[in-house]
Amino acid sequence: MPQYQIDFSPRLSGEVHVSTAKNAVLPILAAALLTQEEIIIHQVPKLTDVTHMLDILRACGAEVSQEEDSVRVRAVSVTSPKENALLRTMRASVLILGPLLARCGECLLSMPGGCAIGQRPIDLHLKGLQKLGARVEQEGGTVQVSGCLRGGNIYLDFPSVGATENLIMAAALTRGVTRIENAAKEPEITDLCRFLTCMGARIAGAGTANIMIEGVECLHGAEYTPIPDRIEAGTLACAAALTEGSVLLEGARTDHMRALLFKLTESGMICQEDARGLRLRGKARHPMEARTLSYPGFPTDMQAPLMVVATQTHGLSVFLETIFENRYMHVVELKRLGAQIRVEGQLALIQGGRALNGAHVTATDLRAAAALMLAGLIAQGRTTLSDPGGHLMRGYEGLEDKLKALGAEVKKVPSS
Ligand code: UD1
Repeated sequence: MPQYQIDFSPRLSGEVHVSTAKNAVLPILAAALLTQEEIIIHQVPKLTDVTHMLDILRACGAEVSQEEDSVRVRAVSVTSPKENALLRTMRASVLILGPLLARCGECLLSMPGGCAIGQRPIDLHLKGLQKLGARVEQEGGTVQVSGCLRGGNIYLDFPSVGATENLIMAAALTRGVTRIENAAKEPEITDLCRFLTCMGARIAGAGTANIMIEGVECLHGAEYTPIPDRIEAGTLACAAALTEGSVLLEGARTDHMRALLFKLTESGMICQEDARGLRLRGKARHPMEARTLSYPGFPTDMQAPLMVVATQTHGLSVFLETIFENRYMHVVELKRLGAQIRVEGQLALIQGGRALNGAHVTATDLRAAAALMLAGLIAQGRTTLSDPGGHLMRGYEGLEDKLKALGAEVKKVPSS
């Protein structure tokens, strides 16, 4: 079980490079199943979620090889993976549904289970595919989706990121025109569309709520470097805000981080974009209000890290989580460190200005893990963070090393 020791770490300073976005890389790797030709992806982050996705592609029949940080995938013939355990390890495994269905007319998938932050059903993925002519049969823990697809009109009841990605991938290789209304607008979706366009797909409206895809007969090979990780960059920005740091996040895309930067600036930080990335100076002092929303609203993945920042401002901050039903699990752990937070349903009230004190805390999910590591930086004494689910290694490429490079006292230790 991974464990981290974090000691009080005043004033982070220096520069770190932002890794490539996990949430962009995963759908892009799934999209490699859409062609027989070779796909090469560069700057792939070393994350266990990526390793799982590569294993899933192999289980679908693709040849996968890695050289330094580049991945090559060649999916000459594809089939549904037999290994259900592999699919259940990661929610994003559902992203192979659209590509497999479009490529070979059927996909048999073990239903991804609920997870700690919420139930996370896949009804929107399935309803959208049905609009394109797919038959959906669910039995026990599996779902079988089959049929020869044709273009169609889809309205998403909610702008689900994964459903939008799955439907775009399916439609790219489906005869006719598909229109998706109320599509998700996250930068990772625009990036997926840019990659698919490199493969020969015809897509208009990526990054807006109305996406139109004109299906093509076949897609070809491509070489691509996905976008930087706005959540990793945001998490490091919160670390700077907590410690009155002076930090350069090299390669950060500030245009993807507006909602967070707006909050940090309102709170007293100086956030400046320059040719190398994002520069942050100062300290977040004023309390804030944050309501999680679909992009370009404030991202749910930044709610936990920003909440740690709120614990150190002067006054009462109000957070509202509207995307996932159970995404306040870090609150119990933050309270162990001395934070004063009250949760009422979707609402969290954070009384700032309380000093935190080191304690033993446990990571319950990916973003909670990062938030607790940040909290350890400003807690007096030593904080021990247990991460039984290996969440940090799933989703952040060497977060502890990046914080260390900025002067933080963080280290990974053998678990006791
Ligand atoms: C993606 C991100 C995740 C982020 C989330 C919201 C990846 C790999 N993960 O997850 O980091 O937190 O977007 O920004 O990109 N829902 C349904 N039915 C569905 C699909 C979703 O009810 O068929 C609900 C979910 O339960 C959740 C909400 O919609 O409450 C958002 O989910 P969605 O946008 O699909 O998130 P993911 O794609 O799973």
